[in-house]
Amino acid sequence: MIIAIDGPSAAGKGTLARRLAAALDLACLDTGLLYRAVGAKLLAGGQMPGDRAAAERAAANLMPGDLSQADLRSEAVGEAASEIAAHPEVRARLLAFQRRFATEPPDGKVGAVLDGRDIATVVCPQADVKIFLTAGLEARAARRLKELRERGEEAIYPRVLQEMQDRDARDSGRAAAPLRPADDAIVLDTTEMDSDAVFEAVLAITRSRFAGA
Ligand code: CDP
Repeated sequence: MIIAIDGPSAAGKGTLARRLAAALDLACLDTGLLYRAVGAKLLAGGQMPGDRAAAERAAANLMPGDLSQADLRSEAVGEAASEIAAHPEVRARLLAFQRRFATEPPDGKVGAVLDGRDIATVVCPQADVKIFLTAGLEARAARRLKELRERGEEAIYPRVLQEMQDRDARDSGRAAAPLRPADDAIVLDTTEMDSDAVFEAVLAITRSRFAGA
C-alpha cells in the first residue's frame, strides 16, 4: 500500500503523513527532509545552492545520518532546499532512495506514506491513494509562523508570508517535477479544516479505497 501526499509548504502534509502511518502501521518518509539535508550540506560547506555540480555531489553522497541533523527545519535550510530541488540532477540522485522506500518499506511494514511535492506525479505514479493537500497562502503562512515561534525561532508574519509566496512560485514554476496535483489525485483544501478533520477525511478515503479492492 502506497499513500502519496503532495502539496505546497505548510499545508499540513507532515502531520497528516505521520498520523496515517501510525494508524495504518505503515512506514513514513518526509521526502522534504532529503532536499533539506542536501541544502544543509551545501550551506555547511560554504557552497551556494545554485552550484549544480556541488549540489549533485552532496545528493549523491547523502548518508542516513544526514537526515537526523538538528537544524534541518530552519527557514534558511528550507530556502536552500527549494533552490537545490530545482536541479534535475539532484532530483535524479534522490529518486532511487524514495522509490525503494515505497516499494520495500523498512521494518517489515506492508506499505508506506510519502509526503512531498512530486510523489504522485514522479516518484510513485502507481500509488494507491493520491492526496494533494493545499490551503490558502495566508492560512499556510499563519501556520508556519506558529510553528516557527513554537520552536523558539524569531519570525514576523509579513516576512513568513513573502517567503512562502517565493517558495510557492519556485516549487510550482520549476521545469523539473513542478508542484502540481496528479490527474487522479484528490485535492483537499484545508484552509477551513483542522488537522483532526483532515486526518479523518483522508483515513476515510484510504479505507474506502481498500474496502473495494
Ligand atoms: O516544510 P516545507 O513544506 O516548507 O518544505 P519541505 O517539504 O521540507 O521541502 C523543502 C523543499 O524541498 C521544498 O520547498 C521543495 O522545493 C523541495 N521538495 C521537492 O522538491 N520535492 C519533494 N518531494 C519534497 C521537497
